[in-house]
Amino acid sequence: MAQGGVGLGTIARANGITFGTAVNSGKLGDAAYAAQLVAEAQLLVPEWEAKWAALQPRPGSFDFGPLGIIASFAQAHGKQLRGHALVWHAAMPPWLAEGLAEGAARARSLLAAHMDGVLPATRPAIRDWDVVNEAIANPEGSPFTARTPSQGDLRDTPWLRALGPGYIEEAFRLARERDRTLRLTYNDYGLEGDSPWAEEKRQRTLRLLRRLVGAQCPLDALGLQAHLLMDEPFRPEPFAAFLRSVRELGLAVLVTELDVREAQQLPPDLPSRDAAVAERVRQVIGTALDAGCRTVLTWGLSDKDSWLAQDRDVMRKDGQVHRGLPLDEAGGRKPMWQALATAFGTRRG
Ligand code: G3I
Repeated sequence: MAQGGVGLGTIARANGITFGTAVNSGKLGDAAYAAQLVAEAQLLVPEWEAKWAALQPRPGSFDFGPLGIIASFAQAHGKQLRGHALVWHAAMPPWLAEGLAEGAARARSLLAAHMDGVLPATRPAIRDWDVVNEAIANPEGSPFTARTPSQGDLRDTPWLRALGPGYIEEAFRLARERDRTLRLTYNDYGLEGDSPWAEEKRQRTLRLLRRLVGAQCPLDALGLQAHLLMDEPFRPEPFAAFLRSVRELGLAVLVTELDVREAQQLPPDLPSRDAAVAERVRQVIGTALDAGCRTVLTWGLSDKDSWLAQDRDVMRKDGQVHRGLPLDEAGGRKPMWQALATAFGTRRG
């Protein structure tokens, strides 16, 4: 249940930071869920409602129903909205994968038609999109490698197979041609940790960003999903160096999907677990804010609503629920909430 005192969004705004969170339209009828969003968030991102499977479930047939529910809620409560995601290898309706397999001309036409259908229709509400999501292949040794075949730095996806490595630049150019005022973001995960595979993924990402910027691709920002892993160490230095390199390209940096997957071997009690999660968040978000990040979104507010509690690939096998979001299952603010509040309340250059 929402609690007294100002929320994270208000604390953040006082220091020029935008805080927000993912929202699931199917849960807005839950009063406690809605109250948490109103109390804590300034910016909302649809958890699934702005993806291809939801927006264009059949060729040429657009469904803005679920997204419209979120847009109405955002408007009613004075919240901003961002879009996620125009091009991704997941949340693709079966007909799209079939269409992409027909070759480059068909793929290009499908992508242009999707943007023609979506960008003008969402223009008043959404001014910022994840244009391409998760195009970088996970390196050997990453905990995600099993499921991501690759072609060099890039993940082997239906988009890559249809259009080649240039699909990323094409997507950004198609979006910019349709709306010169949108902020266009490249979004990915696994870029924060102190591990050989995270460092390799950072280098792969930098190679992509440098290639895009060098080609005058209309790219404005890098979205760090920041699905943090407590089983992976963290040291500010390598992450800070990466963020400096991204910022030197003239790109903004956003944290787009923050949450924390707890370690396989949990600390003995809840206070220890919550303290470990809060300390990781303090370090990672502090490093991002020091590097100039001014937008931070979590992927949900309460542990109860997290994908970490529902997705078979990541939920715990010991019956525990990952305590990786600012609010506990009952909606109570945890040390992670305080870590974010302190980070947002710290004045930075
Ligand atoms: O599509 C149905 C819709 O028709 C139905 O009305 C609605 C009712 O709630 O459910 C929809 O079902 C599922 C939806 O989540 C809502 O729960 C989809 O089948 C399911 O695929 C979808 O999963 C989402 C997943 O992305 C795939 O889109 C998760 O909620 C969402 O947390 C997850 O988020 C991803 C980011 O987009 C990218 N980064 C990783 C992150 C976690 O996997």
